[in-house]
Amino acid sequence: MKTLIIANWKENPTTQQEAKELFELVKKGVKGIKHAEVVICPPFVYLPLFSGITLGAQNVSYEEKGAFTGEVSSLMLKDLKVTYVIVGHSEARKYLNETDEIVNKKIKEVLAVKLKPILCIGENTGEDKQQVLERQLMDGLREVINHKSEILNVVIAYEPIWAVGTGNNCSVEETKKSVLLIREIIAKLYNESVAKNVMVLYGGSVNSQNSGEYIKNGGVDGLLVGRASLNAEEFINIVKSV
Ligand code: PGA
Repeated sequence: MKTLIIANWKENPTTQQEAKELFELVKKGVKGIKHAEVVICPPFVYLPLFSGITLGAQNVSYEEKGAFTGEVSSLMLKDLKVTYVIVGHSEARKYLNETDEIVNKKIKEVLAVKLKPILCIGENTGEDKQQVLERQLMDGLREVINHKSEILNVVIAYEPIWAVGTGNNCSVEETKKSVLLIREIIAKLYNESVAKNVMVLYGGSVNSQNSGEYIKNGGVDGLLVGRASLNAEEFINIVKSV
């Protein structure tokens, strides 16, 4: 399995021109790279502008279609050749009130059209990590855990809230422990084979200085990169470092 390096552009950049420039620079920089699968998750409106790198969306509706003003469906994303969809990002949980129940509906909808959800989980400062991860995985994957083929299409991203967008990345050692914990929970929910094979990423203030260490010693299968993915050179260095 290739290392998965995912760029989450969040609500950036402001113009199509800037988006195209950033995309083209990254595309050029990662051309010929075989060891990693690079995924760009731009805002919805830029998705149709891009091709040549695997695409992801930052959110999705849990409804297939209909009178849901402002929403974008899984099928619409599929039609735009999107492969991955971020679900349950801590910013969506915080600012868009995305609950575990909503996350679960979205995951099921994304899987139903054969796209791959990236399920973001992680505790905040002062929270019991084990409790939070157990709840988010159990509730987020409710009813998905019955289908082996489906669960292996879910990518899990461990993103401790205190590390996201703060410059305060989680240590490689602590990340390793958390990833082990996540695999233990998955083993309990499903089985050892799924726990071993499910892809687990780390995200939270990843940069080109710390990225390589996570892959080498953090027990992760890839990285979810926010701020550092807005700088083409920095992001390309991250891809090269792993
Ligand atoms: P960050 O964001 O790299 O800016 O911390 C990561 C994320 O939100 O996925």
